[in-house]
Amino acid sequence: MEKIPVTIPYFDTNEIENVKRVLDSGWVAQGPVVAEFETAIAKHECVGHAVATTSCTTALHLAMAAEGLGQGMDVIVPSFTFVATANAVVQTGAVPILTDIYPETFQIDVDKVRERIQTEYKEQDGRLQNKKTGNVLWGIVPVHEFGLCCDIQAINQIAAEYELSVIEDAACALGAERGGVHPGGFGNAACVSFHPRKSITTGEGGMVLTDDAKLAEKMRRLRTHGSTISADARHAGKGFLLPEHNEAGFNYRMTDIQAAVGLAQVEKMDNIIAEKRRRAAIYNQMIAERLPQLVAPCVPDDCFHTYQSYVCMLDIEKLGIDSIENGGKYRDMLLQKLEDQGIATRQGTHAVHTLGYYRNRFGYAPEDLPCAYACDRLSITLPLYVQMETGDQERVIDTIKKTMDLISQTGGDSWRR
Ligand SMILES: Cc1ncc(COP(=O)(O)O)c(C=O)c1O
Repeated sequence: MEKIPVTIPYFDTNEIENVKRVLDSGWVAQGPVVAEFETAIAKHECVGHAVATTSCTTALHLAMAAEGLGQGMDVIVPSFTFVATANAVVQTGAVPILTDIYPETFQIDVDKVRERIQTEYKEQDGRLQNKKTGNVLWGIVPVHEFGLCCDIQAINQIAAEYELSVIEDAACALGAERGGVHPGGFGNAACVSFHPRKSITTGEGGMVLTDDAKLAEKMRRLRTHGSTISADARHAGKGFLLPEHNEAGFNYRMTDIQAAVGLAQVEKMDNIIAEKRRRAAIYNQMIAERLPQLVAPCVPDDCFHTYQSYVCMLDIEKLGIDSIENGGKYRDMLLQKLEDQGIATRQGTHAVHTLGYYRNRFGYAPEDLPCAYACDRLSITLPLYVQMETGDQERVIDTIKKTMDLISQTGGDSWRR
């Protein structure tokens, strides 16, 4: 039985040829090919500047550090996101204030953001201070989850009202648009990922996109230990002495080997996204016709969804399941049975407030953020990639249907206990 994975990156011989050229050149660390890759991404996303990094996690940390986030500060972050979003905040010394989401779109709930600000902060010397901890509210890190932009205009509006900073976690949203604008073009720095589960990949890798030239310049220094001159610039004849370091930075440099892969991938990006969107529409139709127990992804009118992941939800009411917890048990059993039949699926992502570090440090209970918890327990990512063969999607949907029917006929109640 052929296994259908949850995703596979899409390569051809161009990646190999590009990498060979870099290896032959003898310069494999960050150099001219990274610069070329940055230019190609900036052009594609219509933003002024792109700063490549080793991952989206380091891109987030770099942007946060460059924008002055640190100890004694709070940042509002959606709970339903990969843990990297909150971890990047923690690494700066600041505190992530985990906030609930809209379960329909999986994106941060802007009313909940406003409510948290109004109930948990007071104005003190022109800044918002946490009534309990005394921390200053620095800003918001919204996430464009699964390739769909959050309501970034509303987030920017709140940020403007309260004089807050915004950095967008666009790990999954390279190529996505809201109102015709890409992440990085909404007036904030946005961080993207090139992990193999994203639209295009460099193995590992990330990038900060911004229209702010000064911020880009600062991030370029900080990603290489705050060095006033980069190694490749020195190699190009700008001096043999080590440069000055006026800031304590990091080594977040992407290599030219990775960027060589990335350059070949950028050329395929529009086709990859178009193909995933076409296949997502096929899933939507199949679910509408044959699987009323699943809720297909919801896309607001002005959004261009890239379907980094195709994430649907179990409809527990239609399944006659009495609680999210039991729905979660049913979901896990279903996913295991699909895996046994050669179909890889995943939960969408996790609710960070239910993870050990965040639970233990901040004392969250699952029900504190009920929508994030429900999505953690009830979401299902279906396989989606360019090389899917005709019939693969049919097999996925058919196997889900048969497995659900079987669960309800035979011992379907075991997940209730
Ligand atoms: C929402 C979100 N943020 C951040 C990251 C981290 O990206 P990376 O693996 O490139 O560090 C991911 C990765 O899956 C993600 O989904």
